[in-house]
Amino acid sequence: MLRPRPAALVSLMRAAGGGRRCRDPSGGPRLPSLCSAPPAQPVIAAKEPFLVELQAGKSYSWCACGHSKRQPFCDGAHRTEAPALSPLRFSPARAGAALLCGCKRTRSPPYCDGSHRENAGQAAPPAPRA
Ligand code: FES
Repeated sequence: MLRPRPAALVSLMRAAGGGRRCRDPSGGPRLPSLCSAPPAQPVIAAKEPFLVELQAGKSYSWCACGHSKRQPFCDGAHRTEAPALSPLRFSPARAGAALLCGCKRTRSPPYCDGSHRENAGQAAPPAPRA
């Protein structure tokens, strides 16, 4: 049986991958189809944060995918809409009002850090008022 030489195989894989180098964890070449998969991205649930009352010590699941109908909390929609994403579980140390991220681009999840202002050009409905 004819087997391609490793160097020829690497050339073929680089050509298929647009010349990008892509390695598996052991350092060997990886299939281009595995290299080109973009990381999962959440959708913008709202262009502004959600104001919520949190209880100290209570466990919450903040929706990280943006598909939940119970924003800003998870309703399980990520299982079908964004299987690569999962909710962020957190338990606040203090009770009180908090602004939880609605644009899903915060750098300090689950809390709003103002990132929604950077994403103002993207389409999303305003956050519903309670
Ligand atoms: S529905 Fe968005 S993380 Fe669960």
